[in-house]
Amino acid sequence: MLLHPLPAPHLAPFHPPPRRPAFPLARLRLRLRLARPLQPSVSMAVAEEAEPHQAKPHPQPRSRSTNGDTGKESEFRLVGYSKFVRTNPRGDRFPVKGFHHVEFWCADATNTSRRFSFGLGMPLASRSDLSTGNPVHASYLLQSGDLRFLFTAPYSSSPAALATVLPDPEGLVATPAIPSFDAAVCRRFSNVHGLGVRAVALLVEDAASAFHISVANGARPAFPPAVLSGGAILSEVELYGDVVLRYVSVVGGEGAPRPWSFLPGFEDAESPSPPLDYGIRRLDHAVGNVPELAPVLEYIRRFTGFHEFAEFTAEDVGTAESGLNSVVLANNDERVLIPLNEPVHGTKRRSQIQTYLDHNEGPGLQHLALASGDVLATLRRMRAVGPWGGFEFMPPPPPTYYRNLRRRAADVLTEAQMEECEKLGVLVDRDDQGVLLQIFTKPVGDRPTIFLEIIQRIGCMVKEEGGREYQKGGCGGFGKGNFSELFKSIEEYEKSLEAKQILTPSTA
Ligand SMILES: [Fe+2]
Repeated sequence: MLLHPLPAPHLAPFHPPPRRPAFPLARLRLRLRLARPLQPSVSMAVAEEAEPHQAKPHPQPRSRSTNGDTGKESEFRLVGYSKFVRTNPRGDRFPVKGFHHVEFWCADATNTSRRFSFGLGMPLASRSDLSTGNPVHASYLLQSGDLRFLFTAPYSSSPAALATVLPDPEGLVATPAIPSFDAAVCRRFSNVHGLGVRAVALLVEDAASAFHISVANGARPAFPPAVLSGGAILSEVELYGDVVLRYVSVVGGEGAPRPWSFLPGFEDAESPSPPLDYGIRRLDHAVGNVPELAPVLEYIRRFTGFHEFAEFTAEDVGTAESGLNSVVLANNDERVLIPLNEPVHGTKRRSQIQTYLDHNEGPGLQHLALASGDVLATLRRMRAVGPWGGFEFMPPPPPTYYRNLRRRAADVLTEAQMEECEKLGVLVDRDDQGVLLQIFTKPVGDRPTIFLEIIQRIGCMVKEEGGREYQKGGCGGFGKGNFSELFKSIEEYEKSLEAKQILTPSTA
């Protein structure tokens, strides 16, 4: 139930836009970039060397979008990985402290959360459901390190059902713990998208101020600031499709004494014994798929002030058969990373991003990258439980990939580690600053839409003024050098699905 009369979040039927072709490598940029360019990664050179005759997507005309600062229409273009010059203008429009949580909307939160708990080694940390006095939705919070996944599903909102849990349903209002929750919107979300992410939540200094600043800078409001009775503020603006960007802040600051750990209305759960922990520690990036990148990029950039952190064109990452264009947005400290993908067309096979858009029936969150301090140890645990109800992984790259790995990564990984990378199917990439170890799950739900990425970043350690050491965001890149290998694996997976489809004869 909404606390305020608000326009319903966008859930209109999705109409596929006219298909856009690939960006040419040299399209006009919005801004002049002044800092030094990133150097092409070693793996990029290897990939190019290995596939000198790879087909390129067809070059296409420029894309236009509205300039966020002037309101005037301007031309936007990607320049590609090798020509991109990273700058950090530190232009956040409001203080952002990091990711707070990710909320999945589903039809049954109990079962969905337990599958993720088992598959990722994330124990139940808090709950808000009938047992805690919440008759509107069942919500279960899993936590591992700083990573928080919230799973929410609606209860019946029939008067008969409410009468069983409210002493006087006529005189009382059923209050959800998440104030923006609306059962009808949640049900429709599940019908349209299947299992998916509803909210990417940021911890901000002041969720009310963040909301008002965002809306003043063009954000479409989804839920105005609500002060929760336990001393937190929550607000939401639209991000893309039916996904919202949620702002969370704690009244009096995070150190203020409070009787809750996650949000008011949630009760802490007892820690399981023995402890459940596969080593996942934080959310690294949350990626969205959209039909057309430029307007969404401009929309988010304008109301957040986030800056472009990296970009990849179809020519950087495409295979001979499909591809995408991608831009990564980052906040001031570059630890909140929000990449966006768009499909490219004119290739032999349909883009992976278009497949997502078709099955998700519109834009949505494509994948969440979860960072581990020891990805090999995490993968050992995840793979061990995969066949028993955990997550499956995409097929590994061909053996030639790991033979080349010796040439690319022998200075940072031991022979034993490289052997285990091959055994576990872990991909390795690097940029001019660090190394990235990564692996992708198969889609986690029924549809070929949302999936997970498990990563470890190595290197790029810097010291803050106070002496605290931390790792720079995006260290080692995003696996650009692995994209073509990944896409080959995905394409093989799709082909295997197509081969298994049984076509029913249309004879009478
Ligand atoms: Fe990723």
